[in-house]
Amino acid sequence: MTILKIDSSITGEASVSRQLTNAIIDQLKAQDSGATIVTRDLVAEPLDHLTLAAFADTKVLDEFLAADTIVIGAPMYNFGVPSQLKAWIDRIAVAGKTFRYTANGPEGLVGDKRVIVAISRGGFYDTTSPFEHVETYLAGLFGFIGVKPEFVQANGIAAGPEQREAGIANGLEEVERLAA
Ligand SMILES: Cc1cc2nc3c(=O)[nH]c(=O)nc-3n(C[C@H](O)[C@H](O)[C@H](O)COP(=O)(O)O)c2cc1C
Repeated sequence: MTILKIDSSITGEASVSRQLTNAIIDQLKAQDSGATIVTRDLVAEPLDHLTLAAFADTKVLDEFLAADTIVIGAPMYNFGVPSQLKAWIDRIAVAGKTFRYTANGPEGLVGDKRVIVAISRGGFYDTTSPFEHVETYLAGLFGFIGVKPEFVQANGIAAGPEQREAGIANGLEEVERLAA
C-alpha cells in the first residue's frame, strides 16, 4: 500500500493538523508495517499558483493517482483551505484524468482510494455555517472526482488553552475511531 501524506499548515511544530496527520500515519503504519509513505509538505516545498503551463507537469497528479490512501492536513485559514493546499488541488482536479463531463453530467474517475482529511480550526464550525469552506469544499471536491473523504476534526484551537486541549483530544479520538 502507498500512503501519500500532504501537509499545508504554516505553524510548524505548533501545528494541530500536522499532529493529526502524524497520528493518522502512525495508525496506518500499525495496520500495515510494509506501507510506503510518500510525504509532500506544501509549506516546505510550495507549489506555484496554477498556470496553463503547469498542466504539462503531471508529477503531482501522478503522485496522487499512484497512492492508495491520501492523508491531508487542512487547517482553516480565513474560512477556507490554505492557498498552498489549493495549489495542490488545482493539480489533481484535472478533466480527463480525475473527472470527466458526460451527457449525464460530471463523473468522478478516482475510485478505490481512501482519503482522510484532518481539519483544525481556531473556532467552532459545522457544515451548516456560512463561513465553513474547508469540510464543505473538500467533501464536494473529492466527491466530484469520485472519492468520499473521511474527516477528523480539532475545533476551538484558538479559543483558549482548555478548548485547544479539548479540540486536540477530540481530533485524536476521531483518529482512533478511523481504525474501527
Ligand atoms: C492565517 C490564519 C488564518 C486563520 N483563519 C481562521 C479562520 O478563518 N477561522 C478559524 O476558526 N480559525 C482560523 N485560524 C486559526 C487556525 O484555524 C487554527 O490555529 C488551526 O489550528 C490551524 O491549523 P494548524 O494548527 O495546523 O496550523 C487561522 C490561523 C491562521 C494562521
